[in-house]
Amino acid sequence: MPHAIRFHQTGGPEVLRWEEVAVGDPAPGEVRVRHRAVGVNFIDTYHRGGLYPLPLPSGLGREGAGVVEAVGAGVADFRPGDRVAYGSSPVGAYSEVSCLPADRLLKLPDALGFETGAAMMLKGLTAAYLLLHTYPVRPGDAVLIHAAAGGVGLIACQWAKALGATVIGTVSTEAKAELAKKHGCDHVILYTREDVAQRVREITGEGVAAVYDGVGKDTFMASLDSLRPRGVLATFGNASGAVPPFDPLLLSRKGSLFVTRPVLDHYTRTREETEALGAALFDVVLSGKVKIEIEQTYALADAAQAHRDLEARKTTGSTVLLP
Ligand SMILES: NC(=O)c1ccc[n+]([C@@H]2O[C@H](COP(=O)([O-])OP(=O)(O)OC[C@H]3O[C@@H](n4cnc5c(N)ncnc54)[C@H](OP(=O)(O)O)[C@@H]3O)[C@@H](O)[C@H]2O)c1
Repeated sequence: MPHAIRFHQTGGPEVLRWEEVAVGDPAPGEVRVRHRAVGVNFIDTYHRGGLYPLPLPSGLGREGAGVVEAVGAGVADFRPGDRVAYGSSPVGAYSEVSCLPADRLLKLPDALGFETGAAMMLKGLTAAYLLLHTYPVRPGDAVLIHAAAGGVGLIACQWAKALGATVIGTVSTEAKAELAKKHGCDHVILYTREDVAQRVREITGEGVAAVYDGVGKDTFMASLDSLRPRGVLATFGNASGAVPPFDPLLLSRKGSLFVTRPVLDHYTRTREETEALGAALFDVVLSGKVKIEIEQTYALADAAQAHRDLEARKTTGSTVLLP
């Protein structure tokens, strides 16, 4: 029987269990994928901890890469042997084998390995919708990207730079600052020590056109204070906790600002949207403009340790689990 990481109650990393699971034939519209690599994302910790509730018991993980073993009725685009990757599937990627909706999968280009596929899909599709759609970056824009040395951060900083932006990144340590500078950041702010908004004003004058903020609670006010008039805050994550309620009048006082709380699922609602974002991501990676940095790998069965390290801010770039 294949194995998967599952949890029966929400809590810390210790709730994750390595269990035998029955994986049958794919249902109509599904394919069965044997994973070669699985991606770790901060959202997995929200599912495990209960911030984003799931019916229990549950599997975990939304990003992976592997080989198609079988296809269900009505699936025309995939066949056994195809190399595939995905970043917006229903939860369950932390598994040796999984049945997945075919319309969530993309064919992995031959030039990209399985580990790279698992490291780049959820994080890269997120960077893609944020930078190309939520606030489309224009050449000459200054933008602020929090947690610049993290999974989404390292991809987004390189991509924003490639789009012609002046990229300001925030990180917690000198070592992370060095990494961020090598991956697209023109300026790095140590947000654990420096006043972010003040430094952004010193660098830009009137503030940035957009802030991409996956940190949430701890950075929300500094993000608003870093924007130019009519600037856009995309608050897309809660690594430090969820942003508390706020008064919309704040936005008028601080310069007719825009705030959005975007989610990848709403930018991949159709097959066309998913394919278009995927094509943009594969292009920017295959061209070498964005390098996918796998900074940590763990055995799939050791997912709990990956979660401990991610939540303790010990990781940089992408983290991959190996079945
Ligand atoms: N809405 C969406 O569509 C979407 C999609 C993907 C990801 N996300 C969000 O994007 C963010 C980044 O995801 P990721 O998987 O790439 O994670 P990550 O950036 O690799 O890890 C999170 C980083 O956040 C920073 N951080 C700041 N305060 C923290 C705290 N109190 N605890 C832990 N970390 C803290 C840390 O960097 P420093 O040490 O440098 O501070 C840490 O490395 C997450 O909030 C995630 O939920 C949202």
